[in-house]
Amino acid sequence: MTFDTEKELVVRPLQPHEEIPYDLLLLAEETIEAIDKHIKNAEIYILEYESRIIAVYVLQIIDNCTLEIKYIAVDAGYQGQGIGKFLLEDAASKAHARGYSSMIIGTGDVAVMQLNLYQKAGFVIYDKKENFFINNYPEPIYENGVQLKDMIMLRKELR
Ligand code: COA
Repeated sequence: MTFDTEKELVVRPLQPHEEIPYDLLLLAEETIEAIDKHIKNAEIYILEYESRIIAVYVLQIIDNCTLEIKYIAVDAGYQGQGIGKFLLEDAASKAHARGYSSMIIGTGDVAVMQLNLYQKAGFVIYDKKENFFINNYPEPIYENGVQLKDMIMLRKELR
């Protein structure tokens, strides 16, 4: 679906009475159980377009200085049109406005597209969690036919 970039994009927190957009989050995570584990104390932001939720990101406070983007996902029909990039900028500006000085995000070692996207958005690799996807998931996870093994961590300084 083509996304009309002339329209104003509003990202807002998911309200307590609204359903968690599992369909979108499942693009970024293996199971609902895993999602539930990770969103317990997190903040869910959604992007609405023509009265539909078409994208989501989830923020987790790490410490007084740092927020983590736990999940980011765009409806498959709207991917590749700059929404992911827009959401990363939105998350960074919200975090900066709240006084945080850095933002982190993790992704699979073979997630080439995501690594590309995050680095273009100003994130820099600072760590590798060895065997993260092997130790934390019951089944092997494949991306582009290659098994995920390590989690690559990236950080963006906010200013
Ligand atoms: N191949 C390689 N790079 C690609 C790509 C592709 N098919 N699609 C996008 N990119 C990269 C490009 O670098 C692009 O920058 P450019 O437009 O300057 O070339 C950049 O990503 C931004 O793309 P954008 O259109 O903003 O991304 P998106 O709206 O498709 O959102 C995701 C990106 C990752 C959020 C989205 O694809 C998605 O929801 N994927 C499934 C869930 C997921 O993997 N989430 C991340 C893990 S939590």
